Amino acid sequence: MSDNIILIGFMGTGKDVVGREIAKKTGKILLSTDDYIELKENKIINKIFQESGEEYFRKLEKEMVLKIKDLKNIVVATGGGIVLDEQNRTLLSQMGTVIHLDANLDIIEKRLKHDINRPLIWDKEKISRIFEERKGIYDFSDLKVNTSDKETSEVADEIIQKLQIKNKSVAMSFNTIDVKTELKEYPVYIGSNIATSCEDAMKFLHLNTARAIVITNPLVGTLYLQPVEDILKKYKINPIHIIVPDGEKYKTLDQVCQVYDFLLENEVSRNEPIIALGGGVIGDLAGFVASTYKRGCLLIQIPTTLLAQVDAAIGGKTGIDHKLGKNMVGTFYQPDSVIADVAVLRTLSEKEFRNSLAEVVKYGIIKDQKLFSLLEKEREKIFDRDTYILGEIVSRCVQIKSKIVEEDEREEKGIREMLNFGHTIGHIIETLTDYSQYTHGEAVAIGMVEETKRAVRSGQLAEKDLESITGLISSYGLPVTLPGNIGLDDIKRALRQDKKIRHGKIRLPIPVGIGKTVLKEVQCEKFL
Ligand SMILES: NC(=O)c1ccc[n+]([C@@H]2O[C@H](COP(=O)([O-])OP(=O)(O)OC[C@H]3O[C@@H](n4cnc5c(N)ncnc54)[C@H](O)[C@@H]3O)[C@@H](O)[C@H]2O)c1
Repeated sequence: MSDNIILIGFMGTGKDVVGREIAKKTGKILLSTDDYIELKENKIINKIFQESGEEYFRKLEKEMVLKIKDLKNIVVATGGGIVLDEQNRTLLSQMGTVIHLDANLDIIEKRLKHDINRPLIWDKEKISRIFEERKGIYDFSDLKVNTSDKETSEVADEIIQKLQIKNKSVAMSFNTIDVKTELKEYPVYIGSNIATSCEDAMKFLHLNTARAIVITNPLVGTLYLQPVEDILKKYKINPIHIIVPDGEKYKTLDQVCQVYDFLLENEVSRNEPIIALGGGVIGDLAGFVASTYKRGCLLIQIPTTLLAQVDAAIGGKTGIDHKLGKNMVGTFYQPDSVIADVAVLRTLSEKEFRNSLAEVVKYGIIKDQKLFSLLEKEREKIFDRDTYILGEIVSRCVQIKSKIVEEDEREEKGIREMLNFGHTIGHIIETLTDYSQYTHGEAVAIGMVEETKRAVRSGQLAEKDLESITGLISSYGLPVTLPGNIGLDDIKRALRQDKKIRHGKIRLPIPVGIGKTVLKEVQCEKFL
């Protein structure tokens, strides 16, 4: 069972305040389901009820539960009626320990009396009727706590004690890596407390502006927008935000235009920084906006997935998708600073985390034998999202990527091709399986094994290194063999179509040892 805590119960039983207190004391992140819906719809709950009705709101709740069901290390403060739906009840039970916060009706009435943002409550009679109707629906909880005469912190302590939760978060500043490119020099702050890391960045940037614009999505916004906005306010910078829908399918020109509309309507000038808060999708889209809006404005990347921290946020590639292909439109535009807070990686779903680990393994194979060993030795801690180890990993990866980018900023000298290890065959696998059978990371994992096998076959790598590479990749739950529906002939056929082939030759990164790779022009037929 995941160690999430799910707070359910009638309105006015204190789910949000208790949730916030538990989060503060345990280092977990609070996710209020009502906040998520308000951010997604850009309206307060009351208005959603008034304009679209309860049925629509319940539909949004259902979609939201599906979206958050695999997150980790969170405290979920649910809306009172979310458990009316059977599927929601099942999914919430699977997500973690469900705690029913209860209170006496008279106390609830008192607490709700002055709350105008309660859609279903208008009078005392209605409160008691709904209270009666909902009796019993919270009984699937693992634990029941009455909050009637207790202080918030007392309730939080009781829950923490009963569940024996340990605070695994450590606030530390790990490293600052300076990236020096021809276009820009900028620092990458790596730490494990978003507030501390943002503070460092604020001091460095000397922002001479009254406003900053945060671009994020409903999920990341619900989890992390507030701490970022709090820091900005501390520096007398007024944050405004725009929420973009979550997912690769929204990395489009249409969304970019909606962001331009927002910026222009708010008369945003080019010295007001755009802050990309999210994974690679948000980073690419916000980066593209920043590079084109008024011919380029300040850009701060706050990457929140492991992939974005070790790869997408570093190096200045921005992009959006076109119906004819991914990342078909884009710019090279370096950020003014990057804030990589490894503590945020604790909430990533297992699938997203694993997906990004393929890129981390890649860095170990191509350039960093110590990183490779660390990944071999510390698998358990990595899966436990130990912030210290994650800090070490992200620092090593950023170091490698930034050096490569410094040498070949615009991908013109062929050096950046080093980062393509595993991607040539990985990309073929993604195409042949219609982007539906594997995540990008899984396809790259198989690609790395296949490309390594070819290095062994051509006598450039020892068999034992292939075994280590395959062993490491599969120990992270990533696939290492081609799927049954793809044969070697399919790969050969697809590779012959690769745009990188010139006169029958292709330039590829070939591993010649763990942590050592050379770029070589190889005869395509030989490589196959
Ligand atoms: N610019 C580059 O150099 C570069 C390099 C590699 C990849 N990319 C791009 O990056 C994108 C993929 O990025 P991604 O893998 O980060 O996917 P993503 O941005 O779609 O994020 C994956 C999911 O994780 C959620 N999420 C983000 N942070 C979270 C957190 N801290 N806790 C819980 N959930 C969180 C997101 O809401 C999303 O649902 C692709 O579009 C790819 O083209 C760009």
